[in-house]
Amino acid sequence: MALIHVIYVSTATKKIVDKDLESILESSVRHNNKNEVTGLLLFVGNRFMQVLEGQEVAINETMARIEKDSRHSDLVVLERTAIASRSFEKWSMGFHRLNSIEISSKPGFAELLEADFDATKLGAKKGLALRMLKEFVRVANSGSVGSSHAV
Ligand SMILES: Cc1cc2nc3c(=O)[nH]c(=O)nc-3n(C[C@H](O)[C@H](O)[C@H](O)COP(=O)(O)O)c2cc1C
Repeated sequence: MALIHVIYVSTATKKIVDKDLESILESSVRHNNKNEVTGLLLFVGNRFMQVLEGQEVAINETMARIEKDSRHSDLVVLERTAIASRSFEKWSMGFHRLNSIEISSKPGFAELLEADFDATKLGAKKGLALRMLKEFVRVANSGSVGSSHAV
């Protein structure tokens, strides 16, 4: 039994409204709880970045469903690696919609914005995506970002 994580970026296929995000999160929490999958989903502009961690079988099954989802496209996996322990264990799927003020005020997020969630730019810097996602958890836990919520 191998614990792995997958990090990917993707692009929304249409304008994403709150109702879409609620629906994505509702499915995510329901399935991930059952499958012992944890992680974080960030949304900025029209781009998603998600990290999923769990047993390989559960991650494969989850990714197969996510890849087929017509609400996004151009999904590029940046990283798929065995991990010793979870980094997002508190969240069956943490979520945050980043706004430009937050991004520009936090160095870790500025790097994210500059890379524009662009797969080539992020993939070229190994470890950058995970570093940014962990930085996000650190800032969220310190209470200095607005509407982050653990679900
Ligand atoms: C950006 C994005 C992230 C998603 N993340 C997850 C996830 O972490 N876990 C999950 O089960 N489904 C996730 N989904 C939803 C799946 O693609 C799929 O719609 C859902 O699992 C279908 O289940 P349901 O019909 O039972 O709601 C995500 C979808 C999108 C667009």
